[in-house]
Amino acid sequence: MKINNICCIGAGYVGGPTMSVIAQKNPHINVTVVDINENRISLWNSDDLSKLPIYEPGLDKVISEARGRNLFFSTDIDKHINNSEMIFISVNTPTKTYGDGKGMAADLRYVELCSRKIAQVAKNDKIVVEKSTLPVKTAAAIKNILTETGSGVKFNILSNPEFLAEGTAMRDLEIPDRVLIGGEQDDDGKKAIQSLVDIYSSWVPKENILTTNLWSSELSKLTANAFLAQRISSINSLSELCEMTGADIDEVSKAIGMDTRIGSKFLKSSVGFGGSCFQKDILNLVYIAKSLGLNEVADYWHQVIIMNNHQKQRFSKNILKSLYNTVAGKKITFLGWSFKKDTNDTRESAAIYVADMLLDEKALISVYDPKVSEKQIISDIKNIRNNNKDDSINDLSIQKNPYEACKDSHAIAILTEWDEFINYDWSKIFKNMNKPAFIFDGRNILDKKKLESIGFIYKGIGKH
Ligand code: UDX
Ligand code: ADP
Repeated sequence: MKINNICCIGAGYVGGPTMSVIAQKNPHINVTVVDINENRISLWNSDDLSKLPIYEPGLDKVISEARGRNLFFSTDIDKHINNSEMIFISVNTPTKTYGDGKGMAADLRYVELCSRKIAQVAKNDKIVVEKSTLPVKTAAAIKNILTETGSGVKFNILSNPEFLAEGTAMRDLEIPDRVLIGGEQDDDGKKAIQSLVDIYSSWVPKENILTTNLWSSELSKLTANAFLAQRISSINSLSELCEMTGADIDEVSKAIGMDTRIGSKFLKSSVGFGGSCFQKDILNLVYIAKSLGLNEVADYWHQVIIMNNHQKQRFSKNILKSLYNTVAGKKITFLGWSFKKDTNDTRESAAIYVADMLLDEKALISVYDPKVSEKQIISDIKNIRNNNKDDSINDLSIQKNPYEACKDSHAIAILTEWDEFINYDWSKIFKNMNKPAFIFDGRNILDKKKLESIGFIYKGIGKH
């Protein structure tokens, strides 16, 4: 099928950047990203590119090249579903917070709503591509909804999981390690796969485009994330061992990573991984394994999450213990709130959990993050503290200036590895702090020797 028009449902961290690059590289195809959230769409359309709803280095450049030419953002969902031969589903699939599978299974209600919408309005054959991370066999559910509720038009389902990491999304999209396309293996399915291969071939070498059956594609996405997260939990488990012995985690990590069979990436010890994917996907994998009666498989992967929760708790407890077992009424400064640098995304960010634990201890928290909005930080903390069942969220304040955020504080906790933190005038910060002045470097980005020579008590992860 020749594709002239693409519609992507969901203008978020995945849909926005992915469609921008597809449009940039395929100027002959009209790409429209639609969303039910009017405010989000109007931000995507703003003339001032610093107002785009997501922060991603390099995104503004691609938007300014393609938007208005063949890239559009709209709230007219029905019209664009109808006009397009290919429809991407790129809506959020959070972990269920209710009912069967609560806390583990993926909540597919947004995906289902999209499928019903497509079925309801489609007047001719469509290729429907699942882009959101979905549990294995979701494609079957989508197909069912489409064929059972549609008006007889034909739907081909493809799975095309996104492997971009936030903060490096533009590079990851531009030069992907691989593009994975799963589809049905009959003639129509193969044709549908080929239409999507053609779109990616505009810029991705053929040998990097991998085609598989639907289930392999869906399962690969979940398990690629599980493998990556497992590496972080593995190195984080060793960080605790390092703190108890004479070993240094960065040295251990370097030594392990130089084995070419292991490789050096994703061995950076931290306060714990966050982001919208890792925890959700592993919980999903655990849920699938459990539902199939594979308890050992489920337990094996669940341990990656247990380790990550432990790491976040350990970090908070270490702050408490170092500050003489009480932080009540003490100001503690958080540098960083997003789940990693170069993004304004805060989903599952370790900062939220560490703040929650310290607020339980009645600490006064002051937060500075270069890209996360005040509104977002407040909503995160309200969410985790059950919409403010007590008035403790008033103990958290947000500062627009890092030096102001650190003033009079007893301890600084680095929660995100933003580059700018490295270049701060740490002597100036030290002067204005309560003594002894502590730094808890949850990302091991600062220079321990330099900070100690200024007078700080420095505590890194997996360090002494
Ligand atoms: C991840 C996958 O990398 C990506 O392929 C998939 O499509 C979506 O999920 P993302 O969540 O955007 O991407 O970020 P990633 O770079 O994987 O980082 C996840 C978390 O792990 C962050 O909190 C990061 O700080 C942490 N991390 C990463 C570490 O603590 N140590 C590391 O060595 C690497
Ligand atoms: P991701 O990281 O997977 O991209 P986001 O939460 O950033 O997740 O984006 C998902 C987007 O999908 C949101 O902007 C949300 O408004 C949109 N969305 C969710 N359900 C629907 C729906 N039924 N129709 C259109 N858009 C939807």
